[in-house]
Amino acid sequence: MAEQTIGIIMNGASGRMGYRQHLVRSILAIREQGGVELSDGTRVQVEPLLVGRSEAKLAELAARHGIEHYTTDLDAALADDRWQIYADFLVTKARFPAIKKAIAAGKAIYTEKPTAESFEDALELARLATEAGIKNGVVHDKLYLPGLRKLKRLIDSGFFGQILSVRGEFGYWVFEGDWHPAQRPSWNYRSEDGGGIIVDMFPHWNYVLENLFGRVESVYAKAVTEIPQRVDEQGEPYAATADDAAYAIFELAGGVTAQLNSSWTTRVNRDELVEFQVDGTLGSAVVGLFGCKIQPRNATPKPVWNPDIPDTIDYASTWLETPETEVFENGFKVQWEDFIRHVVEDAPNDYDFLAGARGMLLAETGLASSAQGRRLEVPEVTVDGAPDSASGAEASELSGAGA
Ligand SMILES: NC(=O)c1ccc[n+]([C@@H]2O[C@H](COP(=O)([O-])OP(=O)(O)OC[C@H]3O[C@@H](n4cnc5c(N)ncnc54)[C@H](O)[C@@H]3O)[C@@H](O)[C@H]2O)c1
Repeated sequence: MAEQTIGIIMNGASGRMGYRQHLVRSILAIREQGGVELSDGTRVQVEPLLVGRSEAKLAELAARHGIEHYTTDLDAALADDRWQIYADFLVTKARFPAIKKAIAAGKAIYTEKPTAESFEDALELARLATEAGIKNGVVHDKLYLPGLRKLKRLIDSGFFGQILSVRGEFGYWVFEGDWHPAQRPSWNYRSEDGGGIIVDMFPHWNYVLENLFGRVESVYAKAVTEIPQRVDEQGEPYAATADDAAYAIFELAGGVTAQLNSSWTTRVNRDELVEFQVDGTLGSAVVGLFGCKIQPRNATPKPVWNPDIPDTIDYASTWLETPETEVFENGFKVQWEDFIRHVVEDAPNDYDFLAGARGMLLAETGLASSAQGRRLEVPEVTVDGAPDSASGAEASELSGAGA
């Protein structure tokens, strides 16, 4: 039996992320297990309130999962003290006004990323939340992936020696929607609706890089719209105005170089949809969502470039899969549990609105870099000491010629 209950407003619970990851895999799973365990051994149970625009959809969801509360009236939900946390899984462009209302209502807030459509708005949310003294958190789900958890352990164990570089490949083919329905919502491909792969992925890359390897100090990115016309959910053709692929180089504090490709227009020839290779002086690793392969310095093969002789080394077999020593739970659920502990017993939380704003700053700086065709520095941000927006940020030429 849980000793206390916390009410959670789940806005956008019928969307792709809202339904699958946040409602079913996180909050309902937490409810099912009897709540979240606190540091003193007591438990806090969760009570969701589904919020959305379609009453019929909400009623169907509520009935399917035995949820008592749902409403289309966000203002009434925010005014009701039974609900202490406001959680936001709306399309990105609807998020800023909704979160502002939730801050004004004094709720603790947990949100999907990006926190807003622009860095300026994202920073304003961080500032307003700080001024209001409310707890705030942003999804950092990739850090909770089993592959990245294993990577973190390798880093902490000193496996790599000095880390030199990171190379990441994220992506898969997203169908255009003509002969085969697309597997992502059409707004993702319209910049006027908050779409674009840079805005979608750079907030993730920012927290992955800053938490594992070092703060992102500069970015050079090339954003492209490879498929200019797609077909929407209604079967109507539309102009794809947003970038669907981005090729980028990030320089990190401490000297690591990260090169990350993000693409919805590539066909997968990897083990997983995202993979990072990390090369260090003492060893290298390749991690994905789940897997983690390593090659230590003293088990590194010695290739010799010779186009006249077929290579006899089977490179794939020279890597060692790290053993599964732990069961990893769904990352969204684990982060939800952390956030609930942050709200209820003031447990630490580094993944706040300011972290979300840094993610948006990297996205904007990446887009500006692509538009200007040059490397841009990414300034440090604080809640009240904001730099000029990315387009005005100090730019510097790529060090060394010819890159
Ligand atoms: N963390 C991740 O890995 C990850 C992955 C995908 C998407 N996302 C983010 O999650 C959010 C939702 O994305 P999704 O793929 O679930 O989208 P979706 O289109 O499936 O769902 C969006 C939700 O917003 C609601 N909505 C749409 N327009 C609205 C409006 N004008 N006013 C109020 N509500 C509105 C929809 O009814 C739906 O419930 C986005 O911000 C996206 O960037 C995060």
